[in-house]
Amino acid sequence: MCRLTLTMATSSPPHPKKARIVTSTTSIQKQTNTDDATTMSDEPDEVYIASTSASLAQYQSTHATSIRDTAAYWSDLATSKLEWFAPYPPGSVLTGNFLDGSVSWFAGGKLNVCYNAVDRYCLAPYNRGQETAIIWEGDEPNNVKHITYLELQNNVCRIANALKAIGVKKGDVVTLYMPMVPELAMTMLACARIGAVHSVIFAGFSADAIADRIQDAKSKWVVTASVGARGGRSLPLKSICDAAIKKNQCLGIVEKVLVFDGHGANGSDWVQEADVDMNVHVKFTELVECQRPVCSCEWMDAEDPLFILYTSGSTGRPKGLVHTTGGYALYAMHTTATSFGLTQQTGPSNPNAPHKDVYACVADAGWITGHTYIVYGPLLNGISTFMFESTPMYPDCGRYWDMVQRHKITVFYTAPTAIRSLMRFGDDAPKKYDLSSLKVLGTVGEPINPAAWKWYYDVIGNGRCAVVDTYWQTETGGHIITNLPGVTPMKPGSCTLPCYGIEVVVLDAATGKEIESSPAEGVLAIKQPWPGMARTCLGDHQRYLNVYMKPYPGYYFAGDGCRRDEDGFFWITGRVDDVINVSGHRIGTAEVESALVAHPAVAQAAVVGIPHEIKGTGICCFTTLANGFPESDALIKELSQSVRTRIGPFATPDMIILTPALPMTRSGKIMRRILRKIAAGELDTLGDTTTLLDPSVVGELSAKVEKLR
Ligand code: WTA
Repeated sequence: MCRLTLTMATSSPPHPKKARIVTSTTSIQKQTNTDDATTMSDEPDEVYIASTSASLAQYQSTHATSIRDTAAYWSDLATSKLEWFAPYPPGSVLTGNFLDGSVSWFAGGKLNVCYNAVDRYCLAPYNRGQETAIIWEGDEPNNVKHITYLELQNNVCRIANALKAIGVKKGDVVTLYMPMVPELAMTMLACARIGAVHSVIFAGFSADAIADRIQDAKSKWVVTASVGARGGRSLPLKSICDAAIKKNQCLGIVEKVLVFDGHGANGSDWVQEADVDMNVHVKFTELVECQRPVCSCEWMDAEDPLFILYTSGSTGRPKGLVHTTGGYALYAMHTTATSFGLTQQTGPSNPNAPHKDVYACVADAGWITGHTYIVYGPLLNGISTFMFESTPMYPDCGRYWDMVQRHKITVFYTAPTAIRSLMRFGDDAPKKYDLSSLKVLGTVGEPINPAAWKWYYDVIGNGRCAVVDTYWQTETGGHIITNLPGVTPMKPGSCTLPCYGIEVVVLDAATGKEIESSPAEGVLAIKQPWPGMARTCLGDHQRYLNVYMKPYPGYYFAGDGCRRDEDGFFWITGRVDDVINVSGHRIGTAEVESALVAHPAVAQAAVVGIPHEIKGTGICCFTTLANGFPESDALIKELSQSVRTRIGPFATPDMIILTPALPMTRSGKIMRRILRKIAAGELDTLGDTTTLLDPSVVGELSAKVEKLR
């Protein structure tokens, strides 16, 4: 058996690295006699050819077409994949550009995302009303619900009518702070149905963080649940919301808090009557139950906002990215189908395609991954989607694999941090389960290290499944770089090649010039608008321009560094701004710093990422204390708690180092570059420290870090 190289389909010279797996277009089969097949080299650029040269050539040709006349490419898909109440005028497919940040797609066309994701599948020609739309698995493995498209439609209509009964109108922002229960997806869809704009806040955020987001969005309505359940523990969501709306910044903004109940670990009941203020709280489950299951869909303009999602940036203030209706829906739908190789390609042209996939994205709907790849993408494709309330460790580390076996999951999508934490328990846990239903394994949120990639591929996928490493961001709405199962090759650790319609370039960070030859290293940028991109930051378009459009005029700047190898494959090297990805959660170091300095004992704080075996990146905080505050372990605990209170438990620092001084320049700037090196123990590459006001702090800080390691 000869080794395939990429040269058959690319113009690059013969690939010097190993092609370990040779496969056909339709399925991935290990071929015999590849002497590499049993070696587990750590060499990062091994190529796994999960495709043929013909399929790679097909990808290259479609990709070239999709960026040559990108408006035509997306317009064809928009008309064949989505149902419009009124078509967009021919000239409005794509208008505007990156230079002035005025991009719009399909403006003037009218549609409703809920109609496209739910209603149309209950009708001819699809007639899938009796098919499963949502498989929900609760915190306890035996708590499973199958919700059909028809049931979903009825429930969404009831919630939509209840929202209207309270006074929610088109354009209002509705904040959702919910556990991973079907009502979360249903409420998102109900908002879309009536034209309200949802702003989902991940249920791990604290009262302070919720209050900031409610204030920023001026959200009059908050939907929550009495309690949630996770890993056998009860989450007091309503109490946290109550604390949020009492904060100063929310006073006079929130009119009603709508509370679902019955989601506790024990099916817990509605909160104590004493906790209910009937001027504020609405027993939402009761109100929803008495609504009619019919509610017409609002005609939305393609450019009307669909949702806001807050994400972290370089400053302490999170930004509310605004995604719009038509472009986002199309992009979510298209990337879900292509990136996961769904067997059911829907659309009026192919309504009766067989429905074969059991698709499971085990993220939380509170992040963009959940918005696009749990709620909108799968349902817009008319397939069933999986909602998982619990954690990979509950009741034990076999939970994911038990779910794969019980539900016969075919597509499984998670984050590298989960894979790394499960790997620690060895191969026995997954080997106890029948994982033969799996076809595609996805990862998202941070670069996946080759060792974790290989474990996922070999132990979970048994060498038969494509691993798709999907690179994207809250801002991009959907995947922008990933391999396509059975179509393009894989390289462990590389997110591989751009998605259709995405023109990715590598810019020289200093000059902003495109680097055309490969290999190349620089910052990642995109050259042409795509439908799924966020259009603005809520209430602050200037910030949107400053962060994404102005750094390299004419390009969308992603904020990530990258390398493009000799085959044109992309490798994300990490954020080039002050954002870190901790267990796939995106956190601004400035947010953590402001949480620390909010404590009276802290004079200064500087936060940097630190390599972490499981989380990918951990949080390392250097703090100087205000006069009179002595260093103590108790104070370190308090500071850690302060971060949990200001942001949420997922931002808990991994290391807090109290120090009399930070490395500063003579002009008083904290040298974070040096702190990053100290935190990582890379003292031999510290670079020039002569400009430091007091170079001796470096030695003192490294000694403290070493002690904590
Ligand atoms: C990082 C999550 C490498 C990247 C969908 C990006 C990745 C940030 C990958 C966005 C990947 C996401 N490989 N890095 N496959 N996917 N990232 O907005 O730094 O929470 O800019 O969106 O995560 O995080 P966000």
